[in-house]
Amino acid sequence: KPKKAFRILRNAWRLTLGLTFLGAGWLAYSIYETRFPHEQIEPDPTKKTLVILGSGWGSVALLKKLDTENYNVIIISPRNFFLFTPLLPSCPTGTVEHRSIMEPLRHIIRHKKASVKFYEAEATKIDNERRVIVINDLSDVKGEVHQTEVPFDYLVVGVGAENATFGIPGVRENACFLKEINDAHKIRKTVMDCVETAMFKDQTQKEKERLLHMVVVGGGPTGVEFAAELQDFFEDDLKKWIPGIADDFHVTLVEALPNASSHVLPMFSKTLIEYTEKTFKDEKISVRTKTMVKKVTDKHIEAEVTHPDGRKELQTIPYGCLVWATGNAVRQVVRDLMSQLPQQKNSRRGLAVNEYLVVDGTDGIWALGDCSATKYAPTAQVASQQGAFLARLFNSMAQTQNLESELNHLEEFSAQAKVQEERESLEREIQKKSRAIRRVKQLSPFEYSHQGSLAYIGMERAVADITWFNGNLASGGSLTYLFWRSAYLSMCFSTRNRVLVIMDWIKVKVFGRDVSR
Ligand code: FAD
Ligand code: NAI
Repeated sequence: KPKKAFRILRNAWRLTLGLTFLGAGWLAYSIYETRFPHEQIEPDPTKKTLVILGSGWGSVALLKKLDTENYNVIIISPRNFFLFTPLLPSCPTGTVEHRSIMEPLRHIIRHKKASVKFYEAEATKIDNERRVIVINDLSDVKGEVHQTEVPFDYLVVGVGAENATFGIPGVRENACFLKEINDAHKIRKTVMDCVETAMFKDQTQKEKERLLHMVVVGGGPTGVEFAAELQDFFEDDLKKWIPGIADDFHVTLVEALPNASSHVLPMFSKTLIEYTEKTFKDEKISVRTKTMVKKVTDKHIEAEVTHPDGRKELQTIPYGCLVWATGNAVRQVVRDLMSQLPQQKNSRRGLAVNEYLVVDGTDGIWALGDCSATKYAPTAQVASQQGAFLARLFNSMAQTQNLESELNHLEEFSAQAKVQEERESLEREIQKKSRAIRRVKQLSPFEYSHQGSLAYIGMERAVADITWFNGNLASGGSLTYLFWRSAYLSMCFSTRNRVLVIMDWIKVKVFGRDVSR
């Protein structure tokens, strides 16, 4: 028996060792591949020009799977990196460093087989008639040329959406948003400024309470995740290093939904919504539902509160830092394109597209992600699946064109062939090619496959609504938090991102979060 136990232990040890070596080998190879890309082939100028707008979830998923040797590919985006938005709420508090969730676009395009052009610019106009895009260099450093036109044969619009403010006065001027890396920096600076100003000599108690009131507007996943991260920051770090704020620092989540079932996180199941609300109560985050913000000044928000008896009351809520997370609005460049197309006149949420993501009323323009109006929610999951779908579509279009030109040649040869045997062999080839064309052309329309929803709710707890064997699995708690972490880690863009995020998490566990500005 001891011998058998020894054998089992030895084999387990060998297996662990083998797996460790395998893992280390895989990591080393991934790092080597990332650092030393292959030589790239130059694009063929006779091929069609495919312009992709944006460097977000949709556009990058398309680029990742696109066979770039088939087109002259041009990417245009004001941002020269891909941003892993699911971990963005962790950035302002320093749970994750911003560079850990950014992947340079130059890395991505340098790894493609054929080279891809990138212009860091904003598309300000898409001219459907002339088939050109007007682009503007938005950077602080400008050359002699900072506005020009880019012609296209095919265009993919993946410019995402902007922050919705519903025209509420004072929001743009006074609130912070949470969509881009710069937003995370701004929130961080504002929170720390509020904290240090609250501790200023002779600060009045009333002003201290105002400064330390952190208000998050919008009970969708962005608002919930950020409120949770901010409360964690306070409980784990701020309170410890700046004890003077312990009694007055307070996070409030404000949500407008008007009916009786109004709650935070509307996309999750009822049990998880209740679990989130209970967790927020434990964390001492105030949740104010049925509270619609109507006006924002530099120190207060004015909100219409609906009481249980239906009575409405206008309340003034003082705040130090205001984070506005009320969803998406259509970008100007998209609105402008929509105004050129009568087929888009009834679309409100973005570019209406058909089942192949072709923009209604155009030929050779596709749209994906948050800037398109489909029956799906505006999420990274949808955008990336649409990107992968469009890559398949463009790859198969190129394959079809190649096969068709080969078919034309074969038909010419066959018409000229004098020997019967040669003609028959060519005929067989022609039939084979025709079958291949039919196969390649059979691309079914885009269909979204929902993998589930995940959200962090604070105190090392998360909620998950996962699609499981045609059913639904709803769970919340600490185990779900581990699942949340591993799922997001596996979804990170590159090995580099994954390693950096793990290092950030370890750093925070060991040393705590940084409380400097
Ligand atoms: P984006 O990823 O926003 O990319 C748009 C790109 O277009 C950017 O590169 C931008 O710079 C560029 N651009 C903008 N204007 C122009 C212009 N005029 N010309 C050219 N380029 C332009 N979804 C999930 O599924 N799971 C999550 O956990 C999740 N977490 C999120 C957390 C936060 C804080 C936020 C804000 C969103 C989150 N989302 C999540 C939603 C998800 O990020 C979006 O649905 C997704 O980014 C949409 O992808 P997209 O490619 O359409 O747009
Ligand atoms: P959202 O649209 O999901 O939620 C915005 C919330 O703000 C709504 O509940 C709305 O009722 C509320 N609101 C609007 N105006 C208001 C006002 N004046 N006063 C008070 N409340 C007001 O927006 P969010 O959270 O930014 O998400 C955008 C998209 O990104 C969604 O599709 C979401 O699913 C996705 N996302 C997914 C995440 C995840 O899966 N973990 C995380 C973050 C975003």
